[in-house]
Amino acid sequence: MTAIVTRDLEQALRILREDGIVAVPTETVYGLAARALSRSAVERVFAAKGRPRDHPLIVHVHSIDQARQWGFLDDRAERLVYRFWPGPLTILVPRRPIVPDWVTGARDTVALRMPDHAATLRVIEELGEPIVAPSANKFGKVSPTTARHVLDELGNDIDAIIDGGPCAIGVESTIVECVAEIQILRPGAVTTEQVEAEIGSDIATGSGPSRAPGMLASHYAPNSPVLLCSSLEEAQTLASTTEGLSVLIHEPDEAVFARNLYRRLREADSMGVDRIIVVLAPDHGLGAAINDRLAKAAAATISDRRAD
Ligand code: TXA
Ligand code: MG
Repeated sequence: MTAIVTRDLEQALRILREDGIVAVPTETVYGLAARALSRSAVERVFAAKGRPRDHPLIVHVHSIDQARQWGFLDDRAERLVYRFWPGPLTILVPRRPIVPDWVTGARDTVALRMPDHAATLRVIEELGEPIVAPSANKFGKVSPTTARHVLDELGNDIDAIIDGGPCAIGVESTIVECVAEIQILRPGAVTTEQVEAEIGSDIATGSGPSRAPGMLASHYAPNSPVLLCSSLEEAQTLASTTEGLSVLIHEPDEAVFARNLYRRLREADSMGVDRIIVVLAPDHGLGAAINDRLAKAAAATISDRRAD
């Protein structure tokens, strides 16, 4: 059965209440939602994505109050959510007893996020309980930024998709660990500089694979090889001196770059190009998040070559 694409939130809510799985829009990327408290629904999310069970999921809430029921927010976490929610920030905090092991892979922490999208906030509020929502793509692939992307990739594996239009930001949320030391585990549209300004001190940016198991070196990968350049000149030279069809991606406006990045990668893939050449962003602010995803997309290219 193919997923229903709908704007009818009541219909989506009925499916979620019956432990179905529904792709939902957020300001970052589309997520694949299920009731966090339903073991069978969460199992279906892992199965649809082909995601290993030990990769924990982000719990999406509709209010700061609801977040406090699922995690222990210290002063720093409180400051961050007060400032950046709803928005592209996920906090990693010690979990409360209500959090099921199937969401966290039995870790003692829980990732919490309040997305900035009216339809999805409404769904969580009406449901009366949080949802899990990993990005709605097959494991290791590029995240979806439109309902169409989700339909193409997961249409046969899920029950419904809420079409909330194209995602405004286009890269996944910033993940900030607020357990002992503050650490940025995944860069995103809430920048390191903004987190530091809010916390009032310097913070580490160590995305260790042991700490956030989804942060594999190779991730966010299109099928075509991805080659990274530090300038437009370098990219043009590379495109003109290599054989076959190259797509060149270069966008000086970082907000536009982030918003269109995954769509551009998908389009290049569907054209079956020989390589995707991308000019990196300046490595700070939102540019750091863009470059992080590009490095992961290119890492798949490098490891495929090693496997040859
Ligand atoms: O923007 C986003 O965050 C999107 C939208 C849909 O909200 N969601 C998203 O989820 O990117 P996902 O599952 O694709 O990425 C979540 C990341 C994974 O790398 C996972 O390992 C990490 O968060 N994570 C979740 N819970 C964790 C925990 N308790 N400890 C360590 N890492 C955790
Ligand atoms: Mg993901």
